[in-house]
Amino acid sequence: MIARGTEAAPPSPFTPEQQRRFDEGFDWAVGKYPPERRKSALLAVLHLAQDQLGWLSEPAMAYVGARLEIAPVRVREVATFYTMYRLKPVGRHQIGVCNSVSCWAMGSERILHHCEERLGIKTGHTTKDGQFSLEEVACLAACGGAPAVLVNNFTYFENVTPDSMNRLILELAERPGQEMAKAPEPRPTLPIIEKQSFPQATGPEAKTTAAEAGTTEPK
Ligand code: FES
Repeated sequence: MIARGTEAAPPSPFTPEQQRRFDEGFDWAVGKYPPERRKSALLAVLHLAQDQLGWLSEPAMAYVGARLEIAPVRVREVATFYTMYRLKPVGRHQIGVCNSVSCWAMGSERILHHCEERLGIKTGHTTKDGQFSLEEVACLAACGGAPAVLVNNFTYFENVTPDSMNRLILELAERPGQEMAKAPEPRPTLPIIEKQSFPQATGPEAKTTAAEAGTTEPK
């Protein structure tokens, strides 16, 4: 339900294709919680909106709030608290250089400065032609390939050097733009194993929990 009381529902900020992807992801994200806890999906749904638009505009936050029946001011409070949400437009290609400890030890500062020089912008800014944005990001979970870079939220580059960054920037300049998120694949529902029947078991029958069975489906 979008409408809240008598207020008009905020218009969708998405194109039809973005809307389709958002809706698929929305159902997946909200479906992970009991109906009375659907608001708990806020962080995930904000990510979905950002993945489609590149950033979170005020209309996008209002729309997310309406879909989850959360007041816009509450959505804004959350979006402005966490640094992973972008509150201003970004370039067609967003380059995130990891600044966490492994990457820092392997020279990420040098990579960041190199990008700043190469693109002619400071970290946190976008080139005048709207092609590139540059940001520092926290650990990308690619520490074994430090220093690591993430482009447009979904493409990793590891063991980067100033030379490989030059090549990457040239390559990206030829590409049409951000490849936005696909809707997440639905998770397979694994059967919950009620009991194990090992012949040698002698104690009380062992129960296997849903978590042990590898599923996060609500119990
Ligand atoms: S510290 Fe950079 S990916 Fe983990």
